[in-house]
Amino acid sequence: MRIPGDFVLGAATAAYQIEGAARDDGRGPSIWDTFSHTPGRTWNGDTGDVAADHYHRLESDLDLMAELGLEAYRFSISWPRVQPGGSGGLNAPGVAFYSRLVDGLLARGIRPIATLYHWDLPQELEDAGGWPLRDTAERFAEYAARIVEPLGDRVAMWTTLNEPWCSAFLGYGSGSHAPGRTRGASALAAMHHLNLAHGLAVPEIRRAARNAPEVSATLNFHVARPFDEESGEAVRRIDALANRSFTDPLLRGDYPDDLILDTAGVTDWAFNRPGDAAKIAAPIDLLGVNYYSTVTVSEWDGRSPRTGNDGHKGAAGSPWPGSEHVEFHPQPGPATDMGWNIAPDALETLLLRLHAEHPETPLLVTENGAAFPDRVVDGRVPDRDRERYILDHVAATLRAREAGADVRGYMVWSLLDNFEWGYGYAKRFGVVRVDYETQERIVKDSGKRFADLIRTRDLPAEEGD
Ligand code: FCB
Repeated sequence: MRIPGDFVLGAATAAYQIEGAARDDGRGPSIWDTFSHTPGRTWNGDTGDVAADHYHRLESDLDLMAELGLEAYRFSISWPRVQPGGSGGLNAPGVAFYSRLVDGLLARGIRPIATLYHWDLPQELEDAGGWPLRDTAERFAEYAARIVEPLGDRVAMWTTLNEPWCSAFLGYGSGSHAPGRTRGASALAAMHHLNLAHGLAVPEIRRAARNAPEVSATLNFHVARPFDEESGEAVRRIDALANRSFTDPLLRGDYPDDLILDTAGVTDWAFNRPGDAAKIAAPIDLLGVNYYSTVTVSEWDGRSPRTGNDGHKGAAGSPWPGSEHVEFHPQPGPATDMGWNIAPDALETLLLRLHAEHPETPLLVTENGAAFPDRVVDGRVPDRDRERYILDHVAATLRAREAGADVRGYMVWSLLDNFEWGYGYAKRFGVVRVDYETQERIVKDSGKRFADLIRTRDLPAEEGD
């Protein structure tokens, strides 16, 4: 398979997962600082205080990106680093860090893709009510306008939000992510205010930027498959709550009727005010797609013994408000260290579906990758499983493109091993290994293979199936 010349290959990271320097240069606390410092919230009590120490290793990490030949680098800006309390003026040293990052990328011929929000809400805004509060959306738009000002002559693509489903439903529903709240009605209000935050930020970004950047949002998709022939309704519910809850308002102009009906017992939707729909549907240039694995679901009648699980993954609350009776079943086939099943064909189907439903919106795979328990052998990391995973998903993306989906590129998750949220440092996703004791980096075999792919732009058929 030839990789088309205009298909961009790169890598992704997020601020809290790699930067460390949690209290340096005026950075304020975010909900993830508070959450990870709360006993029992993360594996081993791990926090992002030091992480991969990227903040202090910017230059050598940039060199590493150049060594891999990355064509694009998707990073996130830590809101509390550049606007510590979530309102008011910018924190100059924080801005200077991202300015150096962007300059360093451009100097190495790497396209900067900046995400404005990858889950690290300034704690002050959470204390005021967080995402269930409408004002947080206004604060986000103001932050967007302010931070695009100093960087908006150089960033090629802006992404408003990363995976708002996780922010809303894991942050305020299941409580497995920061801030760890567990009310279905709050999760749905958060969903709406995240959508609104996105819609309010889009025109601010366009106004403040001086280089006509592409503006996008990144969503994570639940590719739901039916457990049996009776499971169509469960698939529809999960699709409404996890996927169409974002794609419909962003790209179609309003929430799907079935989502409103499914959640009527949880919330009256008063948060959705007249005029919001038009704001949320502000035109974007591209949709970012994060994909890792699939789910298999069925309906539970509420009486017979459950055959699957409730989809809470042991969390205190439900990430599925109004659809708690849907059952989640073990996935067939091989899985990664996260327990996530490996199904590249589902990425192909997902991209084709998104293209069919939103043909006018170009797509970019903004995250895809795998955690495996790596070993260092004679100074090398022979991570054959990760290499396979990545090549198979690049191939699936290219197949979708060949079949007509307008997919512009693929960003591997992740450049570096990093703080994997609730799993702390237990799960390694990097194509570069990080030794957390010494902060030494080793390019894993998967990273070398990915670099080859970028250099040769050729994916041999037997490697990508
Ligand atoms: C996604 C997140 C990213 C990373 C991967 C494994 O949900 O966006 O930060 O944790 O999963």
